[in-house]
Amino acid sequence: MQKSAYEIKKEICEVGHKLYDKGFVAANDGNISVKVNDNEFYCTPTGVSKGDLTPDMIIKIDGTGKKLEGKLNPSSEIKMHLRVYKERPDVNAVVHAHPPIATAFTVAGVELDQYILPEAVLTIGNVPTCEYGTPSTMEIPDSLMPYIQKHDAFLLKNHGALTIGFSLQKAQFVMEEVEFNAKICKYARELGGVEEIPCEQLEKLMELRKKMQIPGRHPGCKRCANLGTDKCRCKDNAKGEHTCTCHSEKPASSQDALIAEITKKVLSALGH
Ligand code: 13P
Repeated sequence: MQKSAYEIKKEICEVGHKLYDKGFVAANDGNISVKVNDNEFYCTPTGVSKGDLTPDMIIKIDGTGKKLEGKLNPSSEIKMHLRVYKERPDVNAVVHAHPPIATAFTVAGVELDQYILPEAVLTIGNVPTCEYGTPSTMEIPDSLMPYIQKHDAFLLKNHGALTIGFSLQKAQFVMEEVEFNAKICKYARELGGVEEIPCEQLEKLMELRKKMQIPGRHPGCKRCANLGTDKCRCKDNAKGEHTCTCHSEKPASSQDALIAEITKKVLSALGH
């Protein structure tokens, strides 16, 4: 059943309050939007604490960002939200916040790409860090472009996080998952190191994801994508053990990978 305008506005406020209560935003940080149809969206106003949001503050805009309803002005980051809706028709809600631990990863230049918790592997996979951009400019929407088709969660370099979903609740849950994953990763590093989930177990999780029909896009296994290159981390558990069976069947170095690629091309040119 379609939600009323009031229900949508109330939900946006509730998510804003949760972000504020969880410490994912300070002062007037963060913004939230919901798609009504291809040319109508509700969004949070600029310069208001997400902890103080009330339904009468929520603004309706069109697909160009023009205000259709509301007393206040739309979020200064609305271009980022509208770009997501343009590129991802499956997305109905966008949440931007500054969750402190995930944001600290981007500040420290540490990727949030280690597979440490089954839930995070199932729902978000690795979270890419988008190139730094000046807030409110087209630099931020542009920085999402390399990742937008395969991910539902993004870190914005030295800035914060962006999560998207088919519903507002889903986008909010993904935001919580990103921060929780970052927190556990930070704790594990402080306790002496991260033992990642081995490749064989990752494969099972990917299968499970298919079976459970978990909604949203997923980047797949970044580790598999790096097999045979210098970025391969298949044997990176804390004990230095080799955890990946597929590794032995694949080229072991970037040079081997290059030779394999050239051989493939030559064979294909020869009609094999
Ligand atoms: P707005 O108040 O304009 O939505 O901006 C908050 C913010 O987090 C900017 O990155």
